[in-house]
Amino acid sequence: MIILAIDTSCDDTSVAISDGRRILSNVFWSKMDVHSKWGGVMPSEAKRQHEEFLQPAIYKAIEEAQLTIEEIDYFAVTYGPGLAIALEPGIEKAKELSMKYAKPLIPINHMVAHIYANLSTDTEENPLSQVEDFDFPSLALTISGGHTDLYKMKGHLDFEHIGWTLDDAIGEAFDKVGRLLGMGFPAGYKIEQTAKQGDDSRFSLPRPLHNSDDYNWSYSGLKTAVLYELNKLTGDYGKDQEKGKVKLEDISAKLSLRDIADMSASFQKAATESLINKLRKALLDKDSENTQYKMLIIGGGVIANSYIRESLEKLSAELGIKLVFPIPMWLCTDNAAMIATTAYYYLQKGIFLNPNELSTLDRKPSLTIAEDEYLKL
Ligand code: KG4
Ligand code: ZN
Repeated sequence: MIILAIDTSCDDTSVAISDGRRILSNVFWSKMDVHSKWGGVMPSEAKRQHEEFLQPAIYKAIEEAQLTIEEIDYFAVTYGPGLAIALEPGIEKAKELSMKYAKPLIPINHMVAHIYANLSTDTEENPLSQVEDFDFPSLALTISGGHTDLYKMKGHLDFEHIGWTLDDAIGEAFDKVGRLLGMGFPAGYKIEQTAKQGDDSRFSLPRPLHNSDDYNWSYSGLKTAVLYELNKLTGDYGKDQEKGKVKLEDISAKLSLRDIADMSASFQKAATESLINKLRKALLDKDSENTQYKMLIIGGGVIANSYIRESLEKLSAELGIKLVFPIPMWLCTDNAAMIATTAYYYLQKGIFLNPNELSTLDRKPSLTIAEDEYLKL
């Protein structure tokens, strides 16, 4: 079962080919330097890049998989969530291919794919995470630039949303704090590296919602607390910023390397402790049938962070619950290999559109897992 998958949900143009969940090729193009200068992803630039690089990426993925386009059995594409105008070129190209080659198209939810990235295997069929399959019931967590969501999974593609962020996503908090520290965009990896030289106890930062009786998070207060501490360090400069005279990112010019390293470490510790605290609560609460969760499955760009990985490993050892996350970094951040793997699981449930049904498929920038009509089929 050969699948060609496309992801253009954000700034990366990615195309992958799989045989079932066995990844044969995974190609991606990123122009992060352009977005970095701007301090975030520039949607019009992302769309332009997808339009330019999608076709060459398709050729390259097919060539690397040593196949021809006629050998593709299914096409798959992310239709949400993501940047509206970035999703468009990917969906259009997938529709065009499905019609031209008369093969079904599978509309994929990007956040489901971050979870199912864990079931991708390499060309030798070795798992690219710690497991060959999910056991149920389990908990699944997505941590990325736009999401911090917790789901109960009772079976494959069977999700119940039990926890979420009330404001910023954890990856967004890394990016916003990184901007204050003068790191450009995205800042997650830079904070992780800088934190290694820092003292994580120098700044006392809050753990929002620490004692609330739910599985929710809040990260915007943490970012504000970081700004408050930095303003204390920079004195008058901080006050000028509050009055709107100085840009946020310019604060970093008044910070020493030690300040930046200590704040990176203190922030990373606070953000991670918040995450772990609610996960511990959710894992100990068990589910309504009182069965213990078998796995804690993680997906999304933030799980590339090794400090967070190690903290989750400690939690998993403490509770005796199997921890699952993608091993290679490229499988944690956005990629089309995870779209191909997810397509394989959608097909097991009969979720696909025939070429004559494609007019119903449209981009869904704010798509959630709970509202995904295809997952209900
Ligand atoms: O999943 P992803 O590639 O794209 C989205 O769907 O959002 O996640 C991107 C997010 C960004 O916020 C980025 O700063 C964060 O993941 N990230 C990290 C690390 N690598 C990427 N955050 C913390 N530590 C990292 N090493
Ligand atoms: Zn993503």
